[in-house]
Amino acid sequence: MGTMKLFLATLVTLAVSFSVDACPPADRAALLALKAALNEPYLGIFNSWSGTDCCTNWYGVSCDPTNQRVADIVLRGESEDPIFEKAGRSGYMTGSISPSVCQLDRLTTLVVADWKGITGEIPACIPSSLPILRILDLVGNQISGKIPADFGSLGRLTVLNLADNKLTGTIPPSIVNLGSLMHLDLSSNKLAGVIPSDVGKLTMMSRALLSRNQLSGSIPSSFANIYRLADIDISMNQLSGLIPAQLGSMPVLSTLNLDSNRLSGNIPSSLLSSAGLNILNISRNSLDGNLPDVFGSKTYFTVLDLSYNKLRGSIPKSLSLARYIGHLDLSYNHLCGPIPLGSPFDHLQASSFANNDCLCGSPLRTC
Ligand SMILES: *[C@@H]1O[C@H](CO)[C@@H](O)[C@H](O)[C@H]1NC(C)=O
Repeated sequence: MGTMKLFLATLVTLAVSFSVDACPPADRAALLALKAALNEPYLGIFNSWSGTDCCTNWYGVSCDPTNQRVADIVLRGESEDPIFEKAGRSGYMTGSISPSVCQLDRLTTLVVADWKGITGEIPACIPSSLPILRILDLVGNQISGKIPADFGSLGRLTVLNLADNKLTGTIPPSIVNLGSLMHLDLSSNKLAGVIPSDVGKLTMMSRALLSRNQLSGSIPSSFANIYRLADIDISMNQLSGLIPAQLGSMPVLSTLNLDSNRLSGNIPSSLLSSAGLNILNISRNSLDGNLPDVFGSKTYFTVLDLSYNKLRGSIPKSLSLARYIGHLDLSYNHLCGPIPLGSPFDHLQASSFANNDCLCGSPLRTC
């Protein structure tokens, strides 16, 4: 009997300590303030945000099992979750992200993505209040205002995705201090100013996506110091100056999109002779000079788009030695002379060569 009593007493103590531990009231209050500032009318995902234990069955919330503090908030408006299938629609949410999120100081993941209608600013308190944040993904909303200047203090941040919003101002120079950053996506905003010249300090970065903004100035050559960088997309900005030749000697760079800018000068031969670079779009710039004659059996491009520039001279014969060229576009330049023969050219259509000064040969008119 005594044993039984002790056992029951232990059970009760356990249960009490559990309910005390599960979701500290301050974390729960911060989540409820977050909920109060958002409005999700179609799916009812916030209906589950009720009761005392925010660590259990609150949609998109999870806690650190060792201390029951809120660790992850993952709310995606485009998702495979059955709740979306049942409603037969993708997510839509209005409102804004409450600064109360900054009370969740053990947060490692904050994803509030693709809800299309969320407005307001990025809470300015995030960099100073969320020291162990690893993933910040607010893609696909209508968030405006600036990226807080002290963003670089988020020393553990690996993913920063703010793409498809309405952010203005500049890329804060402090961003180069994000020593753990692997994935940077600021595409499709209204960011102006320059790309920090010491962007090369981001040595862990593998993707740098900055397209569709109003960035100006030149392309920092320090990009080339980033050993892991595989994907650079700075297309559709207002960048000027030369393309740094160093980009052509990056060890794992496979995609380089610089199209629709104001770049000038020659195309560095290193870009065209690089064996690893497979997608190169430098269309719609002011590049001039001849096409460097540096192609060969290592040339392998799925996309090589040099259209809408001011290229002169002829198409180098070495291009016909290429191992593979999927999509070649040399249209709208000032090229002249015979189009080389060879397997890389067999499948190309006249549009790949259209609107040059005097190109001839298949698939254009005979020379
Ligand atoms: C290259 O960029 C141009 C201009 O931004 C775009 O129109 C074109 O579709 C791109 N080429 C490829 C093959 O994606």
